[in-house]
Amino acid sequence: MIPAIQSLSINKIPVNFLTSRRAFYTMYGLLVYEGFFTYLMAIFTRKASGGRNIYLALDIGTEIVKALICLSEGTKGRVIGVGRHKQKLGDMQSGAVTDIGGVIRNCQKAIKDAERMAGVSANQMIMGIAGELVKGATTTLSYSRREPSSKIDLAELKNIVHKIQWKAFDKVRSDLAFETGYNEIDVKLVNAAIVDVQIDSYKVSNPIGFQGKDVDISIFNAFAPLVHFGALQTIAAELDKELMAITAEPYAVARCMGHEDGGNVSSIFIDIGGGTTDIAIVRNGSVEGTRMFTLGGRTFTKRLAQSLNISFQEAEEIKLAYSSDKLEKQSHKIVREAMKSDCEVWLSGVALTLAEFEEIDVLPSKILLCGGGSHLPEIKEVLETREWFRKLPFSQKPHISFLKPNMVSNMVDETKRMKDPQDITPLSLANLGLEYLGEEKVLSKILKKIVRLMQI
Ligand SMILES: Nc1ncnc2c1ncn2[C@@H]1O[C@H](COP(=O)(O)OP(=O)(O)OP(=O)(O)O)[C@@H](O)[C@H]1O
Ligand SMILES: [Mg+2]
Repeated sequence: MIPAIQSLSINKIPVNFLTSRRAFYTMYGLLVYEGFFTYLMAIFTRKASGGRNIYLALDIGTEIVKALICLSEGTKGRVIGVGRHKQKLGDMQSGAVTDIGGVIRNCQKAIKDAERMAGVSANQMIMGIAGELVKGATTTLSYSRREPSSKIDLAELKNIVHKIQWKAFDKVRSDLAFETGYNEIDVKLVNAAIVDVQIDSYKVSNPIGFQGKDVDISIFNAFAPLVHFGALQTIAAELDKELMAITAEPYAVARCMGHEDGGNVSSIFIDIGGGTTDIAIVRNGSVEGTRMFTLGGRTFTKRLAQSLNISFQEAEEIKLAYSSDKLEKQSHKIVREAMKSDCEVWLSGVALTLAEFEEIDVLPSKILLCGGGSHLPEIKEVLETREWFRKLPFSQKPHISFLKPNMVSNMVDETKRMKDPQDITPLSLANLGLEYLGEEKVLSKILKKIVRLMQI
């Protein structure tokens, strides 16, 4: 082993901070009091609303399962319980489940911790799906009405959405099958959402009652390989919760800033997890597409383990200490060197993935980072200092920043445990969950019925 690494100086949390018994009991009392108060609040709210509005957001990450117990109050949600459980190396790979039993046990532990903190359990659940082959694309198709002067009614709207969604579905599914070599039948629709509706170039949110000739509808469809989607369905069934939805995680992250009503958010969202980097592009408030590649935090840990000839666990500890600047100078230099080449490869992954969005003429010049892997200082550094963006259709050099939990517009964290970019994905799922619990818009209702047919 390299001598400098042997003398690591990771600052340990002082263990004697509870030396005074009084301090201990005061703290313990406060914790009990706080827990009891949250419990009372939760019971009160649950009773007040007939028990329908407590739900679970479950993010099954390659590295960590994250469970949030949330209370929905109309369009707003409150996080009242958080649970995290680390997965074993063999449980998941690149966002896909490799050991169903292992993942179920980890989910159960994370959910139990979250429910214990919340003092209540949830019956309903929204789950995220991510991974190498989970892809989403927005397709815009046009429907020409025979009688432009008549007003659109519910029956006609159903017919339009039905026709357009089937066309969009076929197109995206065959694109994905072509790109991946999967048979079309082995590709499953994960979720669909209407991102934009225009009648004769006039933007509307509910077409009913409008006149006009051409109805253009943009629908986002996310797909996953059947084997991957099926594994998540099996896990969901074992968790004994009513499944509100399985949704593509990058889609949820892309929607986290609450721009669903045609706001003008334009950003590239990059979630760097343990196994994958997920990219979503939002332009003028519409999710244009999502893609992923299989490089994440684990790649950097593996590289470190290899170059220093140490175990994965040791390398992980060193990596975390490195990124929080807790290594002494020489060790810091050695780790930085080891990270360098992989960060360049990761950056090419970003550039190549963005280049795949061929249909986008101008990419948003704002990049928002999240996920545990984004902590590594080199990530932001390579994005900011290299000339990678020159070959892509950016109108200017992209500005890089981090998504923070308080930017997830409709969620309030009452636990004070959501501080990290790592918490953005579960929070985004919780945020999307609000839509499934709240009053549904007419368009979403129609689309949901069609999607159910397509998922059979
Ligand atoms: N301070 C840090 N510095 C560097 N890396 C970090 C830090 N904190 C967490 N990570 C890395 O982040 C990764 C876990 O992030 P996250 O929880 O977002 O992943 P995940 O959701 O489990 O995985 P995925 O999204 O790929 O399925 C791990 O690889 C971990 O090493
Ligand atoms: Mg993740």
